Amino acid sequence: MHPALVRLGIGRQWRKFGAPFYLSRAAGAEKALKKQTVIAIALQLALAVAACAQTRDAGLPHLERRGHATQLIVDGKPFLILGGEVHNSSSSSVDYMRPIWPRLAAMHLNTVVIPVAWETIEPEEGRFDFQVLDGLLQAARANRLHLVLLWFGSWKNTYSSYAPAWVKQNEQRFPRVQMSDGRGTERLSPFSKAVCTADATAFSRLMRHLHTIDGEQHTVLMVQVENEVGVIPESRDHSAAANQAFAGQVPAALTRYLSDRRSTLNPELRSVWESAGAKTSGTWQQVFGSAPITDDLFMAWQYASSIQTVAAAGKAEYPLLMYANAALVRPNYQPGQYNSGGPLPHSIDIWKAAAPSLDLLSPDIYFNEFALWASSYTRPDNPLFIPEAQSGATGAANAMYAFGELSAIGFSPFGIDDENNEPLDLVGITVPGERPDSKAIASAYAELANLSPMLLDAQRAGNVRAGLIEGEAQRAARVRIGDYTANIVRSAAQSSARIGVLFLQSGPDEFLVTGVGDAQVSFTSDTPGPPIVGIESIDEEFFHDGHWTPGRRINGDESAHGQALHIHAGDLLAGCIYRVRLYRYH
Ligand code: DGJ
Repeated sequence: MHPALVRLGIGRQWRKFGAPFYLSRAAGAEKALKKQTVIAIALQLALAVAACAQTRDAGLPHLERRGHATQLIVDGKPFLILGGEVHNSSSSSVDYMRPIWPRLAAMHLNTVVIPVAWETIEPEEGRFDFQVLDGLLQAARANRLHLVLLWFGSWKNTYSSYAPAWVKQNEQRFPRVQMSDGRGTERLSPFSKAVCTADATAFSRLMRHLHTIDGEQHTVLMVQVENEVGVIPESRDHSAAANQAFAGQVPAALTRYLSDRRSTLNPELRSVWESAGAKTSGTWQQVFGSAPITDDLFMAWQYASSIQTVAAAGKAEYPLLMYANAALVRPNYQPGQYNSGGPLPHSIDIWKAAAPSLDLLSPDIYFNEFALWASSYTRPDNPLFIPEAQSGATGAANAMYAFGELSAIGFSPFGIDDENNEPLDLVGITVPGERPDSKAIASAYAELANLSPMLLDAQRAGNVRAGLIEGEAQRAARVRIGDYTANIVRSAAQSSARIGVLFLQSGPDEFLVTGVGDAQVSFTSDTPGPPIVGIESIDEEFFHDGHWTPGRRINGDESAHGQALHIHAGDLLAGCIYRVRLYRYH
């Protein structure tokens, strides 16, 4: 008997249910009584099933709005994903991954973002093989790492190269995206029901298996459904089914969504829709105009709808968090030059309307303008998770910004299994060698791991901010926190290295400050009170045995005689953070 049933005290009814009381030939009153009993039992059973489900899923990773932030809750506690994504082919071999896991753990990752390929789990239709996945899961657990799984199903970077051979070889059954001249492409069409059904079947079996092997332990935190979908080199699918849909009406569910949320729509989407008259019905070109962006929005609806079916089938087996990721757009690229239909900022609302089973939409950010891209995915209905990003010092600075300024739930540089991502030395202090960037992620993650209880509290309380200086043109960044403004400049004006500085407010006039790069931070204030801000003190602190312990008092030459805090590129390698106290005078 399940403990939940015992708790509910329905053991006797269970036994009764097993007895042949419902076969009784008793008369009217007795019948009515039995009817009532059956209803009561059915109700209690329903309650018991719900209770079982609750018991089973109590610690299931989920999102929760807490104070100022939406946080990822794992086994009941807020959690920051300090992640890294391995190369596409690494996870196809348990042996290949064996030496990599301990290295990633030594880099202070707590989560590895890792592909699961359709062709691997369903090599023949209906025959499922989860041996590789089981091996990966075991190894992750042995190294105390969580996983985010990437479902490389029908689509990976627009292509369908991870579909099993039995799908690839059957063009009749599984039609492709077609070019306007009728040629096929190596991309399954999102307009094909057969594609969607086969993918959803495989994905639901994956999730069922995951539930069996991980439903209690929660090694896997989230699942990405497909990877960087969209069409290239043309802006839309021209298969017969696609043409028919394009000539048809925009689904009412979409126009209703646009009308209901008009004031909070992505500004670009809103302007495209409003420029075409903000219509609530019509064909795609009537509702969104005849520019190429309409093809993009049309494909977005279709990819999202197809992925909704896949995600919902998976969630029916095991309701883990799910998301889709976007390849971003290079400047001046047109739909089809970039992945047309992906969950880009201007399509987030379309994806939200079509795919409610996706908990979030995520950017893969390799370009400059990190702050801009990351901000456009940070919305009240979409907490920020960055599954792919640059590594090295640039990545480390971006991570500081994402967690500090945008309350990201996770960050994950791509190609984390590369040789040039190294763990810290055992002593924790390293003289930068030929590859000064190589320990940047490890040292930033070490610091963020030590800070994470404070950082998570501060995200909730709204007591954390971060500044980012990126690109050659940007010389300074300003961050407002509490009553103060922190003014960040590069120490070496000629450098173009990225700077990321994180500020945690620990008191009205006190901050913990850490960062990536060589920078100087001075402070000002425009709130009522004495107008000039002075630095009362700066203390180094290091994390030892679970506590922050003081190092040097920084003053004199090292603080420009109390005028600025200096952040050094080597600080993170040394595990140093600064406690800065400010005061004000006339
Ligand atoms: C983006 C893709 O999503 C990744 O799987 C990987 O292929 C990288 N690009 C390579 O840079």
